[in-house]
Amino acid sequence: MARLKTPLVGVLAILTLLAVAAAAAISVGAHRRSERIAAGRKVFFSTCAGCHGKDARGGKGFPVDLRSGPFVRANSDARLVDFIERGRPKTDPSNRTHFSMPPKGGNPDLSREDLAAVVAYLRSLG
Ligand code: HEC
Repeated sequence: MARLKTPLVGVLAILTLLAVAAAAAISVGAHRRSERIAAGRKVFFSTCAGCHGKDARGGKGFPVDLRSGPFVRANSDARLVDFIERGRPKTDPSNRTHFSMPPKGGNPDLSREDLAAVVAYLRSLG
């Protein structure tokens, strides 16, 4: 019996350690995520909110909802980053408003990381 118990205790100790490590990893991930959302919020208010509205829902005559519109829901984060990098000129057949979405919202200084952060911010609004 004593012989059996020893390995069992060892296995339990290892499982406990793994659980603690996983919990730590999750909390570090959550921390990074909230930092990224905060960075994205800054980008949004400095570059995007002027056109898209403070609540990112567009407005009258500008039916572009960045929180939960069909385009935003249908595209992955990576595709949204690609989209924001390119924009959508008013000459694009898929343009709906006859206004242009400028590349990077008209702010060429934004990096891919900035764009990924702004997407994380928009996703956080739901
Ligand atoms: C100068 C105004 C302007 C700025 C600044 C701007 N946008 Fe736009 N954006 C538009 C317009 C206009 C459209 C809609 C184009 C159309 O009619 O299809 C659009 C569309 C979009 C779409 C596609 C939504 C859909 O449902 O088709 C996304 C995503 C988007 N913008 C994100 C951003 C982000 C993120 C920023 C800031 C980095 C930003 N925009 C800055 C004008 C702007």
